[in-house]
Amino acid sequence: MKSLTLSSPLDMHLHLRAGSLCETASAVAGTQFAGAVVMPNLVPAIETLPAMDAYAQKITAAAGTAFRPLMTLFLNTQSASDIEEAKANPHFFAMKLYPAGVTTNSENGISNFDAIVPALEAMQALDVPLLIHGESNGFVLEREAEFLPVYRQLAKAFPRLKIVMEHISDARTLALLDEFENLYATVTLHHLLFTLDDLAGGKLNPHLFCKPIVKLPRDREAIRAAVFGGNAKIMFGSDSAPHPRSNKESAAALGGCFTGPVLLPALADLFDRHGALDKLQAFVSDNARRIYHLDVPQKNLTLVNEPSDVPAAFDLPSGEQVIPLFAGTRLPWRIV
Ligand code: DOR
Ligand code: ZN
Repeated sequence: MKSLTLSSPLDMHLHLRAGSLCETASAVAGTQFAGAVVMPNLVPAIETLPAMDAYAQKITAAAGTAFRPLMTLFLNTQSASDIEEAKANPHFFAMKLYPAGVTTNSENGISNFDAIVPALEAMQALDVPLLIHGESNGFVLEREAEFLPVYRQLAKAFPRLKIVMEHISDARTLALLDEFENLYATVTLHHLLFTLDDLAGGKLNPHLFCKPIVKLPRDREAIRAAVFGGNAKIMFGSDSAPHPRSNKESAAALGGCFTGPVLLPALADLFDRHGALDKLQAFVSDNARRIYHLDVPQKNLTLVNEPSDVPAAFDLPSGEQVIPLFAGTRLPWRIV
């Protein structure tokens, strides 16, 4: 039997939501990770430090104190002094940039990049990372590639700012990592696993519908090659993003895959099948710790090559359900 012990695994891009969904998603994260970068796209968005502190407390109440929420603020009108104040807050980790309207709850995102220059200058000076949901409003398969000029412009204009291309899904975005020293990326489990054929090639599977959308086999292969090859600028960020079942199995399905419950067993299986188990520790922890000089709680997680059953659904107190990835199936790895 194969076994693998991960030291302080981290999820560098996670949606923990609000209300009872937050309790479920946070508890799930706490059983697998030592910490996670928490996205701010709630309604209303997390834009102020009091809102951020209250959110961090709610997460800790559900996930336990051995889980460190690395909090982000939704970037829009913050001034240089707001950034300075945020930097002094122990929960605060980074600013998250959403171009206006590209994904769930991003309506109040950025449309005028000139307006955020003072904030970006302050972030560069204070070493506050900029996390970017890099998509345009264009044709769905090209949205990420259409954003390349913006990544290039920002990376050039702010050479000491750490800029993270969140959940990259396109081979052309991946290539930017070699072009600019200050660009980094996160990659999800679902973009390593799936292509458009899984989403819509047979029967439509709305549970695999996410932003950025899963892409072509050649994109997946390029991202796999980089991750399994041990690219040190790429960090694991699940983008696990639960929505109630009624919003997913709907004529207007929302984007977001609830991968949270299966992340580490599914990663172990995938890396094992590609002969890359020895690269998993760096991908799920070491790269992020090195890039950000992060100090996180010590938490060891052991995985073994034995089957585990994925629940068919998670019940919420409201009577709603959330459906995890691989719902009702058996995975070849489990957490001990
Ligand atoms: O699929 C996604 N769902 N992508 C995002 O960027 C946002 C997320 C959500 O909040 O539902
Ligand atoms: Zn996200």
